[in-house]
Amino acid sequence: MTAAFEAALADFARALEAGLAARLGAAPRPGEIARPARLLAAMRHAVLAGGKRLRPFLLAEVARLLDPGLTVDALMPAAAAIECLHCYSLVHDDLPAMDDDALRRGRPTVHVAYDEATAILAGDGLLTLAFDLLADPACHADPAVRAALVLDLARAGGLGGMVGGQMLDLAAEGRFGDGAAPGEAGIRELQAMKTGALIRAATVMGARLGGAGEDELRRFGRFGDILGLAFQLADDLLDVTATEGEMGKAVAKDAAHGKGTLIALLGIDAVRAELDRLVAEATELLAPWGRRSETLAAAARFVAERRR
Ligand code: IPE
Ligand code: IPE
Ligand code: MG
Ligand code: MG
Ligand code: MG
Repeated sequence: MTAAFEAALADFARALEAGLAARLGAAPRPGEIARPARLLAAMRHAVLAGGKRLRPFLLAEVARLLDPGLTVDALMPAAAAIECLHCYSLVHDDLPAMDDDALRRGRPTVHVAYDEATAILAGDGLLTLAFDLLADPACHADPAVRAALVLDLARAGGLGGMVGGQMLDLAAEGRFGDGAAPGEAGIRELQAMKTGALIRAATVMGARLGGAGEDELRRFGRFGDILGLAFQLADDLLDVTATEGEMGKAVAKDAAHGKGTLIALLGIDAVRAELDRLVAEATELLAPWGRRSETLAAAARFVAERRR
């Protein structure tokens, strides 16, 4: 991984952390009545505890590629929104009724640090906050752009996207006793939903904020699809090859839960070869921007080669 990319991601993560912290202060916002301290603390635990910040980074990088005049500050509401939705998905994913995990980002999960009911509500609060941030005029001056961003995130995050994918993921463990384990096509679809949809939303929303036309929206949709697929393949690969210390979460849990992954189906070597192909394809999509797209090309390599 290039040091320049790691430094750019770390810089962005610091700015995002500050942006998120500012939006999770104790003072109620106009239209709110009060912010219960325990709920706020649990939401801050979920959001301010590190993480790679890859989705908001992609959003900001794509936007700034298309419109170099945009600042990270100007993009902060949308970047914070996608990270809030992602963090909510992690809080709920870790619940006892879901994956039952005790460690996330090197710290106790929210239901362990607090309690299960608070974790459910913290997730609900973060999901709602994501759409609050996008609908707020501070996100973009044009209400039509704000509405389009809300729709992008809703479609990616809901029934036919992340939430639907989580449902298929649990079903694939055989929990509901209804039907055979999914084959390769089924696994690819559930992964495109549970993980790919949100990564695609990040690149599409970034393109939209950068003033993309239909062609560029399609191109960055495809770019996000490829990165999303690579991201979950790498997550599954790391589940069998990385340590808990590297990942900040439990590993070797997919096979233990009978989770359908392409590692189990195709093997490690085939998955590594596919990751190489996906990075090449993602890089190809950036060709029109030449050297200006180096950071995004490095992000694609990071997604495939990461150890965290
Ligand atoms: C973890 O996402 C959940 C998956 C979709 C595999 P990340 O690996 O992006 O988690 P953080 O945000 O860096 O903790
Ligand atoms: C999580 O997939 C996907 C979402 C949170 C939507 P995993 O269950 O594989 O993620 P980790 O491994 O717990 O981060
Ligand atoms: Mg899960
Ligand atoms: Mg999980
Ligand atoms: Mg996983």
